[in-house]
Amino acid sequence: EDKNKLDRVKARIDAIPDFPKPGILFRDIFPVLSDHGAFSDLIDLMTSHVKSLSVDVVIGLDARGFLLGPIIAQNLQLPFVPIRKKGKLPGKTIQVEYKLEYGSDIFELQVDSVKEGQRIVIVDDLLATGGTMSAACQLVTKANATTVECLVVIELKDLDGRSKVPSKVHSLVEY
Ligand code: PRP
Ligand code: ADE
Ligand code: MG
Repeated sequence: EDKNKLDRVKARIDAIPDFPKPGILFRDIFPVLSDHGAFSDLIDLMTSHVKSLSVDVVIGLDARGFLLGPIIAQNLQLPFVPIRKKGKLPGKTIQVEYKLEYGSDIFELQVDSVKEGQRIVIVDDLLATGGTMSAACQLVTKANATTVECLVVIELKDLDGRSKVPSKVHSLVEY
């Protein structure tokens, strides 16, 4: 059953050569979302996995982590908290700079959105170099909370992003 769900998800993940730059094979999650059955399968798989972690908070990463995290949080009646790119979150924030497979950016977390000692799962669509997920882990640590797991749909194994991330990484699909 889970294997069938995963196969339906995999069948909808697209690969686009040389986007957004030459040499990058872009793995596109949006065709999964455009197929409501495959999207439902993906959310089922992610929700049951997160349920087994007994976390207090689901964090999603701007922007593609926002497509998945809030639905999982709702399914499990947990709070959803965003980590956003610079200049988008009001109030007091903590920040960290990070490098991407194709650029660099700054991530922010609102200081009061996560409480000391809370158990966190960080959700994103994809792990490439691990720069993004690593930055998110650093923000959770700065907030004195614990990253129980980093959960992604897609892991690009060749880039070994996992080795850069200080917390446990779980992926559904590997390339
Ligand atoms: C993409 C992807 C991951 C990140 C992975 O986000 O959604 O968040 O890259 O790359 P890394 O492991 O090398 O850090 P991106 O910032 O490109 O854009 P988005 O706003 O569409 O999520
Ligand atoms: N983010 C970083 N690398 C990526 C890739 N190859 N495909 C999709 N999103 C990405
Ligand atoms: Mg992203």
